[in-house]
Amino acid sequence: ALGYFTFDPGFMATASCESAITFIDGDKGILRYRGYPIEQLAENSNYIEVCYLLLYGELPTQSECDKFAASITHHTMLHEAMRRFVGAFRHDAHPMAIMVGVVGALAAFYGDASNVHDPAVRELAAHRLIAKMPTIAAWSYKHSIGEPFVYPDNNLGFAANFLHMMFSVPSEKYVPDPRIVKALDLILILHADHEQNASTSTVRLTGSSEASPFAAISAGIGSLWGPSHGGANEAVIRMLEDIVHSGNPVQHYVDRAKDKDDRYRLMGFGHRVYKNYDPRARIISKACYEVLETLGEGNEYQQLLDTAMELERIALKDDYFKARNLYPNVDFYSGIILRAIGIPLNMFTVIFAMARVVGWLSHWMEMMGDPNARISRPRQLYTGYDEREYVGLDKRS
Ligand code: SDX
Repeated sequence: ALGYFTFDPGFMATASCESAITFIDGDKGILRYRGYPIEQLAENSNYIEVCYLLLYGELPTQSECDKFAASITHHTMLHEAMRRFVGAFRHDAHPMAIMVGVVGALAAFYGDASNVHDPAVRELAAHRLIAKMPTIAAWSYKHSIGEPFVYPDNNLGFAANFLHMMFSVPSEKYVPDPRIVKALDLILILHADHEQNASTSTVRLTGSSEASPFAAISAGIGSLWGPSHGGANEAVIRMLEDIVHSGNPVQHYVDRAKDKDDRYRLMGFGHRVYKNYDPRARIISKACYEVLETLGEGNEYQQLLDTAMELERIALKDDYFKARNLYPNVDFYSGIILRAIGIPLNMFTVIFAMARVVGWLSHWMEMMGDPNARISRPRQLYTGYDEREYVGLDKRS
């Protein structure tokens, strides 16, 4: 079923649809992709294997994985005209603005993707998007710092290839610490899908009109950009850096978040579905230590992690937060890892989009593969005027 809108007593419209991809139990803090607990996938899998699982519903055999990985590897290149397109943005354009524009523009290069009822067309579009997001992301970063674009290297894995395109320069190839590659791959796994969140619902709604998958994914990127959603990881680091630089006690910020007259919120805290600890946050917080180890004692990010842990410790004991079931969410610690990897702040949500594109595509393919798929058409509760007569301009006061 595509989706229908139901109104709960609070008149909060909640969109809901049937899906077999991701299961969340917000009260118990459970997250599973195609039935596999996120903790086991984080421990044993990798992003490419998780992409296959989300798209096709089963863990791949070795040959299936090799074939899928080869397809992704061989679709990482962008049309050369895209270099000029990315290069045409102002140097200070937010990379998410570039992602929205360039991903949508892919529809102009792959017109064949408009036949969305052909399963082969859908699969090719999905592989192209998963493969090209890292290239577009890295090029938007290179554009912002005035360095030459770096082409994909087919000999590298997904995460390593992205880091290569981000940090290599013509005169020197970037060779990441394997622990850094593993940490980025973990971030990608944990952000890959999350049921009917705002951006996934946006992709479903857009795709339901039979629009190009590139247009639907571009719409999802736009929705993810907001600070209440995927933009929170960037906002968390800004919050932690403010706290560290202010010299104020952490308690001051917890008190601010409770003050109704102050619109201040603890970024990275709270969740519409999780009324328990976000299982992804628990996994990421542990991974922070491994990544910070690569930077050695006294690195500048340890203070951010210590501040985040202190914030969590105080908030979780506070009645205001307990009464509202406010716990750290996926964004609370992820930024510390991204910072430690060397990812610039304005690229944090781009990494989220790079990871989530497979979730968006899985939902899009599930929806478009349903023979009963129909366009989503939300209704409303009308709260405006009842019928009234028109008043001529000369009679209006
Ligand atoms: C993601 O949907 C998904 O699955 C999203 C995501 C995914 O993987 O796709 O998990 C990714 O978007 C995670 C969320 C990232 N956003 C943030 O961290 C921003 C900070 N968090 C909040 O803005 C808020 O918690 C939301 C947006 C995440 C959830 O908002 P809700 O469910 O609409 O909760 P609410 O705004 O109705 O708040 C309920 C109460 C309010 O107090 P009262 O009016 O009842 O007195 O909790 C308070 C809020 O003021 N509250 C917070 C708070 N979040 C909610 N108070 C302080 N700090 C916070 N962070």
